[in-house]
Amino acid sequence: MPSSPPELPIVVLDALMPTSQRLVLDRRGSTVWEVESHRGHYAVKVGYPIEATAEWAAQPWTALAPAREGAVLLRLGLVDLAYGEWERGTWNFQPWHEGPDLYQLWEPCRRPDSSIAPHTSVALGCVEALAVLHAKGWAHGDVQPAHFIIGPERTHLIDLALARGGHVPEGYDFPFRGCLVHYEAPEIARSVLDTGQAEPTPEADVYALGASLLISATGRRAMEYPDDAPRTAQREAVANGRRREVKVPGTLGALIDAMLSHTPADRPTLPEVSKTLS
Ligand SMILES: Nc1ncnc2c1ncn2[C@@H]1O[C@H](COP(=O)(O)OP(=O)(O)O)[C@@H](O)[C@H]1O
Ligand SMILES: [Mg+2]
Repeated sequence: MPSSPPELPIVVLDALMPTSQRLVLDRRGSTVWEVESHRGHYAVKVGYPIEATAEWAAQPWTALAPAREGAVLLRLGLVDLAYGEWERGTWNFQPWHEGPDLYQLWEPCRRPDSSIAPHTSVALGCVEALAVLHAKGWAHGDVQPAHFIIGPERTHLIDLALARGGHVPEGYDFPFRGCLVHYEAPEIARSVLDTGQAEPTPEADVYALGASLLISATGRRAMEYPDDAPRTAQREAVANGRRREVKVPGTLGALIDAMLSHTPADRPTLPEVSKTLS
């Protein structure tokens, strides 16, 4: 099917009346825009279903993700947002957060023979952003380096489309089927392999944060599996706990190692991580 360049749905144009707009990301099932308007500066997320092809099965949930995220953000007390439906799926807008993400910010640490150490204060900012969510009784479910935006005042944790912890309108809800395997805790990978679904938990978020800090600081994954292995083989390796050595020096390295513990109860809680880092 030929695809025309993505456009903002009319309902969103009507709601925001953009003075400028920029397409940030366009991938299967989702587009994200940066929009400026008299109302403010926003990220607009637009979802539509992924049709089945020879390589992949249809994924109708991507159409629901923006509305689900909007409902979660509202539950969490955010007021400067809106969400709704358009012809092909759902959309939301939410405050735009300026700044690099964790992976971008720590790029200098990953250069060969780099002598630049990952900054503890940056790690602390990520821990605090996730801790705020956990303190409200929610688990994120999709913690990864691109989802921490390191702003000038504080770090923001974005993409709450898969978060679990409170009521989500039934029409916009869908099961959690795991996240990016690099950041998936062993118990999540096991559950996805066995049942096709899993339950996001704070402990699994702590694992994903450990894996995020590790990859951002070193470029290395937490677990041992070939890059080109099929996803089920990668999940099998994660579920079986084929860990790699954590090569991050000092307190941060020891913490990441503990956060990547196979048994959820062995992982530190975020208040414990904060205390050790500060
Ligand atoms: N509130 C926001 N502020 C700034 N950038 C954002 C915001 N929301 C999304 N983005 C940008 O869009 C990208 C994709 O957004 P994300 O919420 O992860 O959508 P998806 O559900 O498609 O993964 C992010 O990695 C980030 O670059
Ligand atoms: Mg995302």
